[in-house]
Amino acid sequence: MDPVSVWLRNRRNKKNANRMKTHFQADGLGVKNKNLSFLEDERFEKSWAKAVRLNQEGWSKTGKGVPDIRWRAHVCCWAAQNAMNLSGDFVECGVHTGLLSLTAADYVELNKSSKRLWLFDTFEGIPTDLLSGSEKELAQKNNDNIYFDVYELAKRNFLEFKNAKLIKGRIPQSFSDVDIEQISYCSIDLNNALAENEAIDFLWPKLVKGSIIVLDDYAFSGHETQYHMWNEFAASVGQMVLTLPTGQGLIISNNYGGSE
Ligand SMILES: C[S@@+](CC[C@H](N)C(=O)[O-])C[C@H]1O[C@@H](n2cnc3c(N)ncnc32)[C@H](O)[C@@H]1O
Repeated sequence: MDPVSVWLRNRRNKKNANRMKTHFQADGLGVKNKNLSFLEDERFEKSWAKAVRLNQEGWSKTGKGVPDIRWRAHVCCWAAQNAMNLSGDFVECGVHTGLLSLTAADYVELNKSSKRLWLFDTFEGIPTDLLSGSEKELAQKNNDNIYFDVYELAKRNFLEFKNAKLIKGRIPQSFSDVDIEQISYCSIDLNNALAENEAIDFLWPKLVKGSIIVLDDYAFSGHETQYHMWNEFAASVGQMVLTLPTGQGLIISNNYGGSE
């Protein structure tokens, strides 16, 4: 083989070796040689499929359909299952039409328990007036490309959950009329640090020990303001945030105030 062909072949081999052939790829995440049974778990598949069906209209503005965020939904199901062994309600801040919370609530059959499901959202996009810099730009982009008035859709989606409470309004003002005592599951997905900071100030004292907070945007590029805010918050309560390859962050409540 002539030297040029050898060089070309070596370059090709090196390139191929570096290119990981993944067995699962979605949502900016690819993995190889991992046990992915959770994706085929019948109970999870059923809950995910139902949430996808009910979220079609909610994602119509993007023209791309419902995103494949199954791994993120799996994390929420895990946190929700953990919550079923604790006392306290479920809370989600940032609901849209409920892709994550519908999957998790269906998965744990929340309907069969007395736990309430508190769902906080403007249901019409991210308020941008108090935001600045890249956060404001990203929020504006998402408002333009994804969000619209989804309140009626969200109400329809959660109809079967008799204990679901949709709280339409801006966080933190919308916290003023709710009577949440204890929380066992908390998903925070507001795509801006200011509102997430205000949310955790209100929610943290109510989170029972051992409950899990799922931070949807924690380790996503472009969400560094949230990342730093959450690290600071976690340090202030003697915890650290676990970074997941999905981009989510996890905090376990070590809070005795919630008195589990
Ligand atoms: C990424 S979406 C939530 C997606 C949702 N978790 C799901 O499973 O599809 C972010 C949501 O946060 C809401 N939001 C952002 N800032 C808010 C605030 N200050 N008060 C209330 N809702 C807010 C937006 O209206 C939007 O629906």
